Amino acid sequence: MEDDWHWQLRNNILKKEGKIMNYGEFGGQYVPQELKEKLQEIESEFERAKKDENFIEEYLYYLKQYVGRPTPLYYAKNLSKYVGGAKIYLKREDLNHTGAHKINNAIGQVLIAKRMNKTHIIAETGAGQHGVATATVCALFNIKCTIFMGKEDIERQKVNVEKIKMLGANVHEVSSGEGTLKEAVDEAFEYLIKHQDVFYLIGSAVGPSPYPEMVKFFQKIIGEEAKKQILEQENKLPSAIVACIGGGSNSIGLFADFIKEKNVDIYGVEGAGKGLNTGKHASAMYNNKIGIIHGMKTYAMQNDNGELMNAYSISAGLDYPGIGPEHAYLKSIGRVKYDTITDEEAVKAFKLLCKLEGIIPALESSHAIAYACKIAKNYKPIDVIIVNLSGRGDKDMEIIINKL
Ligand SMILES: Cc1ncc(COP(=O)(O)O)c(C=O)c1O
Repeated sequence: MEDDWHWQLRNNILKKEGKIMNYGEFGGQYVPQELKEKLQEIESEFERAKKDENFIEEYLYYLKQYVGRPTPLYYAKNLSKYVGGAKIYLKREDLNHTGAHKINNAIGQVLIAKRMNKTHIIAETGAGQHGVATATVCALFNIKCTIFMGKEDIERQKVNVEKIKMLGANVHEVSSGEGTLKEAVDEAFEYLIKHQDVFYLIGSAVGPSPYPEMVKFFQKIIGEEAKKQILEQENKLPSAIVACIGGGSNSIGLFADFIKEKNVDIYGVEGAGKGLNTGKHASAMYNNKIGIIHGMKTYAMQNDNGELMNAYSISAGLDYPGIGPEHAYLKSIGRVKYDTITDEEAVKAFKLLCKLEGIIPALESSHAIAYACKIAKNYKPIDVIIVNLSGRGDKDMEIIINKL
């Protein structure tokens, strides 16, 4: 086990224990008192778990033996040649069990829930990936599971809905508002407040503290692996890294270990939907409006009266009107550049990756690929760009078929 570098990441994680992060003016706990008490319990358990070597070992055991980590860092030679400019590498989170990065966090949080003796796990899902990941870990650990999912998303992601049910979980249809992720999160929080035995397993780096910190903790393995792998393959750090952003978990997972590397450019890509000026988009940062959403202070899509607006993107996983508070902070200090990609551009990148590399990407990840293709020309051929391929596209086949 000693010479297995993946296993040695355990030490890395243990070294990084510490206090809950403060994100400047962003983040916090904008929630009712009843919820604050529950959050305090979760925070205390999370802090204890981080310092518990057995916990970290168990988490890494499941990532390795059950999820299939480490995921490869693959040099997309054909794509790089076609696009011109920097060498594009793909961090293959699509090869994880259940098809996306969401399982990294689901494994971590279900282990926290077990430590807290919770008997019922609830989760929200948009694209269905987090719903599948949560239903999967609940099956694995024999825990009752309910997935809150918007009516619209149930329609868009039929295959994942069937998978969730097959794994033994219940799907709770949310029909309020637009019937998407935002409403599913609202109802899940209401349910949590009312039930004692429940643990809410949040799927992105959003929500009141300690959720953004906890999700980052369980996703930062993506960047830790990628850094080690690129040093092995190229003997240097990348010039840039790119990830798509719904709430911000795959991106913060990739970014975490690179934030301190001053020479690495970091790009976060939101969904521009049908175009930023059409109002049909999913960019929380466009317009620079700060507000409160799902218990956190962050950038959020709001109308002139400060009311939250509904997001739109062809990819259900990007269809969220807020963004994790650490991203808001990283934008405010200028460390990460946040930009957008339209539905059209994402679909084009989707087709390109299928044809050139034989990889069918998730529509969410296609946004990051499209952006990497755009910026590759700004770099030299000796430069390296790492793109997080956050998930596989099987779940999106119906949408793509209809679109084409
Ligand atoms: C494959 C994939 N990528 C990206 C996302 C966006 O979420 P996040 O920003 O939390 O990574 C999702 C969300 O469902 C997803 O399924």
